[in-house]
Amino acid sequence: MRGASLGMSRDLWNAVDAYLTQTVVRPDGSLEAASAASDAAGLPQIAVSPSHGKLLYLLARVSGARKVLEIGTLAGYSTIWLARAVGPHGRTVTLEREEQHAAVARRNFADAGVASLIELRLGDARATLAEMVRARDLGFDLVFIDADKPSIPEYFERSLEMTHRGSIIVVDNVVRDGAVIDGASEDASIRVVRRMNEMLAETRRVTATTIQTVGAKGYDGFTIALVE
Ligand code: SAH
Ligand code: DHB
Ligand code: MG
Repeated sequence: MRGASLGMSRDLWNAVDAYLTQTVVRPDGSLEAASAASDAAGLPQIAVSPSHGKLLYLLARVSGARKVLEIGTLAGYSTIWLARAVGPHGRTVTLEREEQHAAVARRNFADAGVASLIELRLGDARATLAEMVRARDLGFDLVFIDADKPSIPEYFERSLEMTHRGSIIVVDNVVRDGAVIDGASEDASIRVVRRMNEMLAETRRVTATTIQTVGAKGYDGFTIALVE
């Protein structure tokens, strides 16, 4: 029932997303080129959509973020949005484990004219984050968590260590076709999001909401948390 009803809506979500991208979001040659380069290199089509990329950009701008951390670069599509929001007077750090993804991302950063704004750190983000904490490389204003899903709780804890009051933490892929409500799910990506949600229900360290989304990337959602 879930699959069938979602399937019928998917064409409409895509059409509306395309329309919104052409109007409200505005088409952007560099971002389209980055997305095309990602596809041409055979990378998975799991970057944020244009409207979500622009939401990240707006969150960074509205909050005046100067130091942004992204966990999971892929081809750097979301990174370009974030780096544009931060600009040259800040720092955009992005973490990626796959060399091939990082290579495509670096080319995309250069082509988009933002290479000098971005520090891409190659390696397992769990190790890179531990190293950053050891080096006291902290004080991030916005963190975007979008890498391997089973590590979400670890990334969230790290984000709390590496931010300050007023920082924003955004977590992608937290609804997953509605599977998040399945308490019996054996999918690690679901179980960890449910664990995160239980933590969010209890902690006073953050004030959070989760928004369900439909569009070019299907039915999913993201969590936005304000660090208190
Ligand atoms: N934020 C990107 C999409 C990221 S896709 C965008 O919206 O454009 C997730 C990425 O996380 C993939 O490139 C994957 O290789 C990377 N990844 C997965 N596990 C990782 C890990 N443990 N450390 C670092 N990167 C990881
Ligand atoms: C997957 C990962 C993502 O970050 C995403 O936005 C969609 C799908 C995945 O690993 O399947
Ligand atoms: Mg994602």
